[in-house]
Amino acid sequence: MNNPQLNKHGELQHLLSTEGLPARIMREILDRAATFLDEADGHEFKKVPLLHGKSVFNVFFENSTRTRTTFEIAAKKLSADVVNLNIGSSSTSKGETLLDTVDNLCAMHADMFVVRHSSSGAAHLIARHVAPEIHVINAGDGRHAHPTQALLDMYTIRHYKKEFHNLRVAIVGDILHSRVARSQIHALTTLGVPEVRVIAPKTLLPTHVEKLGVQVYHDMAQGLKDVDVVMTLRLQNERMQGALLPSAQEFFKYYGLTQERLALARPDAIVMHPGPMNRGVEIDSSVADGPQAVILPQVTFGVAVRMAVMSTLAGNTP
Ligand code: CP
Repeated sequence: MNNPQLNKHGELQHLLSTEGLPARIMREILDRAATFLDEADGHEFKKVPLLHGKSVFNVFFENSTRTRTTFEIAAKKLSADVVNLNIGSSSTSKGETLLDTVDNLCAMHADMFVVRHSSSGAAHLIARHVAPEIHVINAGDGRHAHPTQALLDMYTIRHYKKEFHNLRVAIVGDILHSRVARSQIHALTTLGVPEVRVIAPKTLLPTHVEKLGVQVYHDMAQGLKDVDVVMTLRLQNERMQGALLPSAQEFFKYYGLTQERLALARPDAIVMHPGPMNRGVEIDSSVADGPQAVILPQVTFGVAVRMAVMSTLAGNTP
């Protein structure tokens, strides 16, 4: 089947999803990201001219702290010109369509779009619409995909655990509404993690989730036993329709990551969270701020991974 992310040479043309993204390309991005991080200098980022003369447009139709900011830093470290479109004060509020907005930004000579949108498929739509030499990066579309989050998560896991082939990974929480979880599952299975678990109440799991190659647990004590990596997720209240849970307090009682529950994982297990975190709902503060948490390093690695994605795309022609 034709992969809309790849050009005719099998190289990355757009980054839309980790589903169908070859392991070879994921590994190249992780390796390239490592070259931008100066480990000897406290994780400083190198400034390089790889996007000099290029214009990157950050077009975020949904709120963001980490993704939008780290894309901006990454683009500037690559020497690009960066434009952050403020959707709140843009003409979309006057009824302009998504593609008309994109056409106008193309007329300003955009070379790359970084797009976040509440509708699944928005980044695909833009990628199909723009001229072949323009690259599109999905920065999160509805509940569908968040590929750069998953890639920075893979970078983080590799940084702390070195290999993928010997790991047991648990993803905990609201899998149903999470674009992050879907992208993580595709990335983990593609990179050869032999055991990926999802832990959630039935109401927060997609039907037939096991077809994605994961093991399903409804009980935290069973699901966390002997895992190497715990990936926690926020309750995505903005995407919930109807009451799927009695309350946030009830969720924490059964699915909150506490120190007692984390003790069931391997002693050297790492705790990850894509952010934003809701303390006391999916994770206890003592875990979020504890020695096993790598939540802030995830953000730092995100800059390097986004530098790697943008510079990879910029080096590829249609
Ligand atoms: N992880 C993540 O996407 O965070 P933001 O919503 O702050 O970008």
